Amino acid sequence: MADTRTLDHGTTPLRYARGWHCLGLASTFSDGKPHAINGFGTKLVVWQDSKGELNVLDGYCRHMGGDLTQGEVKGDNIACPFHDWRWGGDGKCKEIPYARRVPLRARTQRYETAVVNGQLLIWNDPEGSAADRDILPPELPDVLTDKYTPWSWHTKEINGSHCRELIDNVADMAHFYYVHFAFPTSFRNIFEGHTATQFMESTGRPDKTTGGYSDANSTLKSVATYYGPSYMINWLTVDYKGFVTEVILINCHIPTGPDSFTLQYGISVQKPEGLDDKTVDYIAERYTESFGEGFLQDVHIWENKVAVQNPLLCEEDGPVYQLRRWYEQFYTDVADIKPEMTDRFEFEVDTTKANEYWHAEVAENLAKRAADDPETVSH
Ligand code: FES
Ligand SMILES: [Fe+2]
Repeated sequence: MADTRTLDHGTTPLRYARGWHCLGLASTFSDGKPHAINGFGTKLVVWQDSKGELNVLDGYCRHMGGDLTQGEVKGDNIACPFHDWRWGGDGKCKEIPYARRVPLRARTQRYETAVVNGQLLIWNDPEGSAADRDILPPELPDVLTDKYTPWSWHTKEINGSHCRELIDNVADMAHFYYVHFAFPTSFRNIFEGHTATQFMESTGRPDKTTGGYSDANSTLKSVATYYGPSYMINWLTVDYKGFVTEVILINCHIPTGPDSFTLQYGISVQKPEGLDDKTVDYIAERYTESFGEGFLQDVHIWENKVAVQNPLLCEEDGPVYQLRRWYEQFYTDVADIKPEMTDRFEFEVDTTKANEYWHAEVAENLAKRAADDPETVSH
């Protein structure tokens, strides 16, 4: 039928995004052994040298393709298991023990590194530019001190979808009710330069009890910012009956192929003051668990949805198309970035109508439940 809307799945980009990508907690790479990380359509090798620096190279040796992640760290270099060629963190071949000299220009793909908030980040740019350290994600004060719990860090492989699927979430007001079981009372976006931010306030749905957003006794203030294409910091302030807790959620990913990526998320909770250690740990663990669950609610949707180039939107949806324009800058040569990709853009969604409907629906759910089983809803 001519008036039936069709889904345009689009085509996945041919390149990987320019920007900083997180490979995980820096401490996981500091044991003096080579580590394998899938990324950018290849395998990367990560190791710590004798100066304590973390190095990242393409994992396949430029001699005859040996797998460097199965090699050995010798001195500061990674030695290939095939013929023992030694590669330095700067990407140069430093030594071939059995040869009279190293061939000229024996150089492999290296990735510049940075450690931020205890996490290892690498710079990717298909154009080969030097790393832009001015756009690293900010250091989080007090995280990694005893004021916060250590990162609870998780990794999940996602196959069958492109990582751009994650990004739409930044502009998605309504999914907080349906996926996270919360009433989003206030919802605003700002996109500017290399950052995209979502400001959201919510209270939990009393008819649901799972996930970090769903507690009816809690109100939540959330600020979530993408710093570049793949690294988001989400500051969460939870007010539970006047008891306020700060939670930090990191959501980051690295593309592994044209339609696959590795998702990582980490949670650190500010330890409440004036409580004994056991209670502090207990509270922190509960928040870690519930925000982990909340995040997996998103993951479940991402894993099962299809890509849509032409989403059909209503007024209550946030600025999805503007957000995608912002995201486009990371797949564009620097010389071709257009002002509309980076200019400041601000938008607030009017949540009035949505919340009227949702509150009525929840009241109905509770009434139904009370009628079905009077015992369980007596308090
Ligand atoms: S393939 Fe790596 S040394 Fe030969
Ligand atoms: Fe979400």
